[in-house]
Amino acid sequence: MRPAAPGDAGSFGKFVRTERAPHSVRYYRRRYFRRSWTDDQASIVAVSGGRVIGHLNVSREESPVTRHVASIGMAVAKDWRGHGVGSALMAEAIRWGRQFRVEKLALSVYPDNEAALALYGKFGFQEEGRLTGHSKKSIGYRDEVVMGLWLIDRAAP
Ligand SMILES: CC(C)(COP(=O)(O)OP(=O)(O)OC[C@H]1O[C@@H](n2cnc3c(N)ncnc32)[C@H](O)[C@@H]1OP(=O)(O)O)[C@@H](O)C(=O)NCCC(=O)NCCS
Repeated sequence: MRPAAPGDAGSFGKFVRTERAPHSVRYYRRRYFRRSWTDDQASIVAVSGGRVIGHLNVSREESPVTRHVASIGMAVAKDWRGHGVGSALMAEAIRWGRQFRVEKLALSVYPDNEAALALYGKFGFQEEGRLTGHSKKSIGYRDEVVMGLWLIDRAAP
């Protein structure tokens, strides 16, 4: 497990959630890998034998009123799923969040994505609502479940 580096960008597009990589390698390199562990965001890759087998991006919301929240996107290569890679990436994201005093991690997931729901539930993410028809794909509209994990005790000031 390590922060992402520019050379990883070629592997990245394969794991995005949309049906095909929507942007060029150069886009991902610029957007995700130039600075990979800052106050604003972290890009973390899992590597095996020189190959990127999983990635996670976590970035703070931009609005001043939601800067305390960071959103996560992640994926693990098909042949590596179910071997703890996703858990290791999530543990790193939480470590990043605590280091930079992020108060809440947020993400959304398709309701039938059992592996992702299991992973997020294991780390304590709770369902906060459902966005109806929020994804529009070739097979039609799909709902997204919104989940959150508080990293602070909200009873504290
Ligand atoms: C979701 C995803 C990132 C999980 O990564 P992973 O490396 O397979 O996860 P892990 O191996 O760390 O498993 C995490 C937990 O989920 C459970 N789990 C994994 N796959 C599962 C499945 N298909 N069904 C039910 N539970 C599952 C594991 O048992 C594990 O719990 P445990 O540690 O108590 O045994 C991976 O499946 C993936 O990339 N899927 C496609 C892309 C995607 O859906 N990304 C998320 C978009 S919101």
